[in-house]
Amino acid sequence: MEIKNLRVNGIRLRESLEEMAKIGATPNGGVQRLTLSDEDKRARDLFVRWLSEMDVEIRVDEMGSIFGKRRGKNNDLAPVMSGSHIDSQPKGGRFDGILGVMGALEVLRTIHENKIETERPIVIVDWTNEEGSRFAPAMIGSGVWAGALERGWVYNRTDINGKRFVDELERIGYKGTVPAKKWPVYAYYEYHIEQGPVLEKEGKIIGAPKGVLCLRWYDIYLEGEANQVGPTPMEGRHDALCAAAEMILKVNELPARMGGNMVATVGEIQNSPNSRNVIPDKVHLTVDIRSWDDDLAQRAWEDLNKDFEEITERRGCPIRIEETWRVEHSPFDKKLVQKVLDTADELGYPAFHMVSGAGHDASYMSQIAPTAMIFVPSIDGRSHVEVENTKWEDCEAGGNVLLHTVLQSAMEA
Ligand code: GLV
Ligand code: MN
Ligand code: MN
Repeated sequence: MEIKNLRVNGIRLRESLEEMAKIGATPNGGVQRLTLSDEDKRARDLFVRWLSEMDVEIRVDEMGSIFGKRRGKNNDLAPVMSGSHIDSQPKGGRFDGILGVMGALEVLRTIHENKIETERPIVIVDWTNEEGSRFAPAMIGSGVWAGALERGWVYNRTDINGKRFVDELERIGYKGTVPAKKWPVYAYYEYHIEQGPVLEKEGKIIGAPKGVLCLRWYDIYLEGEANQVGPTPMEGRHDALCAAAEMILKVNELPARMGGNMVATVGEIQNSPNSRNVIPDKVHLTVDIRSWDDDLAQRAWEDLNKDFEEITERRGCPIRIEETWRVEHSPFDKKLVQKVLDTADELGYPAFHMVSGAGHDASYMSQIAPTAMIFVPSIDGRSHVEVENTKWEDCEAGGNVLLHTVLQSAMEA
């Protein structure tokens, strides 16, 4: 068959996604596959089994990221790489991340069964811990691999129960021996659901983001004074949860106050001792700030800090702030992005140039290799939730765009 007429098998892609969705399935149709959990392990095992059915060399690096390499005619040439992540949010959907891994698998299967010889090798990848939900920060498999994060620091990150990343990596049997160290990559394509409302609103099937917003994560620890709620007068209390409440609203108001294009969120909070009749004395909360404009995000954070200072002084609740993560906005490779748009056009799928508000391993990959992403619409713009959904025909369309962008790059000598 002529290469230009080649298409992925949409039914097989759907079946792979449905099979994966059984692992960690939640009652309302989503998945819970937290990083390095038993579910993450089972999904990895299945992925590795599927990879081993093809002529692919499988390697696991010391961060647990899984690579499958299909040889080309000239294996001295830098490979084309594609993949995403298998881990999910606590109440996540059936498409976030896994679509990019199953999409790349479907591309490899299509190439394999049609016995296509590419000039360059093709590497499929599952990056460890893209979500950052169990172990902060996010995108750490790709971050360490790209040289942006330090392996030792990541190994010692702990989850909410004090379990260390490295111990959990060993426990599930995915602490590989291959150094998590970048090698030359000719082109990196990541296929993903949009996770927002833009494509649906525009009536398009394929999105080609020009890049990813900057991401800033902070951990805030507040100290109050615990006491019995009944006898303790309202005056003179040091209520850490009330200080946190004021801060949360300041974060929520920040984008409107700063103007410009940004979003800011508090998504996680722990309150101690978390008893209805004790004044809270310890609160941990997270702040997530994103914008295309790194300076705006920085100014916003500095402004927010002034508010935080005023609140902690007035309420007598000392504060400790950690900057957990910072990634500047990541522009993708203009030529590769154009290739995605042109390929969608050739295949007859209406496409749209946009930005990615969600973080992706493609952010770190764009620091070391020409990178582009392929988006397909999220129904009602919902993601990181159990009802996250994308039409099967759109999954297939994105798969075809991935197939042809990967093939074009892999045929370049
Ligand atoms: C990753 O899922 C993110 O956008 O936080
Ligand atoms: Mn994702
Ligand atoms: Mn996600």
